[in-house]
Amino acid sequence: MSDKMKVILDCDTGSDDAVAIMTAILSPRIELLGVTTVAGNKEINFTTDNTLRVVDMLRSKVPVYRGCAESMVAKLLPSRHGSYSGMTGVTQDKLDEKGEVISYHHDRLPMPDPVSREQPEHAVWWLIDTLMKSDGDITLIPTGPLTNIGMAIRLEPRICKKIKQIIFMGGGFKVFNATSASEFNIWADPEAAQIVLTSGVPVTMVPLDATHQANFTREDEAELRAMNTPLATAVADLVDERIVAYNAYQPQELHDSAPIHDALCVAYLLDPEVLQDVRFMRVDVDISGGFADGATLCDTRAYPDRPRNCHVALGADRLRFSRMIIDLIRTFR
Ligand code: RIB
Ligand code: CA
Repeated sequence: MSDKMKVILDCDTGSDDAVAIMTAILSPRIELLGVTTVAGNKEINFTTDNTLRVVDMLRSKVPVYRGCAESMVAKLLPSRHGSYSGMTGVTQDKLDEKGEVISYHHDRLPMPDPVSREQPEHAVWWLIDTLMKSDGDITLIPTGPLTNIGMAIRLEPRICKKIKQIIFMGGGFKVFNATSASEFNIWADPEAAQIVLTSGVPVTMVPLDATHQANFTREDEAELRAMNTPLATAVADLVDERIVAYNAYQPQELHDSAPIHDALCVAYLLDPEVLQDVRFMRVDVDISGGFADGATLCDTRAYPDRPRNCHVALGADRLRFSRMIIDLIRTFR
């Protein structure tokens, strides 16, 4: 019997999702059962294509399942998503010195076109089927909007007893990006996030407060580039792209650096010490459609009036995180 940790990743791939997938594939301690895709950073066609690119680049056979193209409810009301600039308060794209739009994620990751194909089954049905047949030993790591997981729970609530834990990237305690009160993944599908948080499954939330303390720097980029392998160069390029975008739109406390949000969830599974100041709290999502739509409301009171439901990470160990990722990338030739 394998003593590897069984994991399913659910991603809106995306540059930081890409590094999360790489980390899971490269770690000898993880058995990655599949990657499901969701719309978020990009439309579903792009997030699925990008996921296949990453899997192919690592010569992996991990199956990829296409999931939901729209949020469960939020997009039904134009007023809820209408004010979103997509750039954290910046209403106009900025251009680099070549006149190109500075962006966190391009439609297609800078990797060869995928050769492998997505599986014919829908991600949500595959999730339900896989979880129901499991021994309750699978960890879900969602790194995009929680649409697929929320849908799966609504369709087959018995999966909740079958999920070992959910470690998701999303939310904010004091740090936000999509609006003044919300983080992108939760804002994109607040109802799905509330379903997950009230599911009874053990949940760990890795919010912006933690991921903005786990940034990659120019030194990290240089170390990757010096490896001179196609994978390390691709990751160095992603790091560079993200640093340029963060400098333009969300300058970080650590000068000339950028978070690789999603990879922190996988790193936490491998080494819990990468997260710091993890507190067990009551967390609910604002689904009211008002100014705080998509906010993760963390109850810090000594006596919350609803039961605590979520471990929330408020910090991270940057060097521990970057060392793990860089060392894993070094193993692949
Ligand atoms: O807010 C950061 C999150 O939004 C990351 O998961 C990023 O990939 C985007 O999905
Ligand atoms: Ca993501």
